[in-house]
Amino acid sequence: MEELVTLITESEIQQRVLEMAQEIRQDAGDQPILLLAVLKGAVPFLTDLSRAITGDVLIDYVQLSSYGNQTRPGKVHVHKDHDLDIRGQYTVVIDDILDTGATWQHLSDLLLTRAPACLKLAVLLDKVGVPKESVPDYVGFRVPNKFVVGYGLDKAEMYRNLRYIGYLK
Ligand code: IMP
Ligand code: MG
Repeated sequence: MEELVTLITESEIQQRVLEMAQEIRQDAGDQPILLLAVLKGAVPFLTDLSRAITGDVLIDYVQLSSYGNQTRPGKVHVHKDHDLDIRGQYTVVIDDILDTGATWQHLSDLLLTRAPACLKLAVLLDKVGVPKESVPDYVGFRVPNKFVVGYGLDKAEMYRNLRYIGYLK
C-alpha cells in the first residue's frame, strides 16, 4: 500500500455529512427526496447521507463510464441507467467529487430531459483550482488539486474502503 497523507478525518466527514443531510432536508421541505447516486465512488457518502436525512427518501443509482485519457475529459457514457422514474421527483444527484464537472455536465443534461421537479447536485468534495462550468448545490469539503482517495474514491479500484480521505504522496 502506498503512503497516504490524511486530508479529512473520519470524524470530520461524519460531522459534515450530518450537516449536509440537514441542509438538503431543509431545502426540500417535506417532499420525498430521490437520491441518485453515481456508482461506484458515491456509495459510502450515499449510505451515510441517506441515513441522516429525515422524512421520505428514495434511492437509485446510475453508473457512467468515461472514454478519455488522462489529460482530456472523455465522452461520458451511461453504463447503468436509473430504474425509478424521476419525472416530478425532487432529485438530488450524489457524487463523490466534482473535478472538471464533465460528468455532471453530461448527466444533468440527460436527467433534465426526464423532467424531474428539480435537479440538484451534492458532492462530498470539490477540487479547487480546476476550471469548471457548474457549481454544486451542496459541497462537503473543498480539496486541493491532488489525487485523493478513500471513503469511496479509488485509485485503480483501491482505497474505496478507507474511512478517511487522503492523498497519495
Ligand atoms: P469530473 O467529470 O472531471 O468532474 O470527474 C468526476 C469523476 O472523476 C469523479 O466522480 C471521480 O470518479 C473521478 N475523480 C476525479 N478526481 C478524482 C480524484 O482525485 N480521486 C479519485 N477519483 C477522482
Ligand atoms: Mg465518480
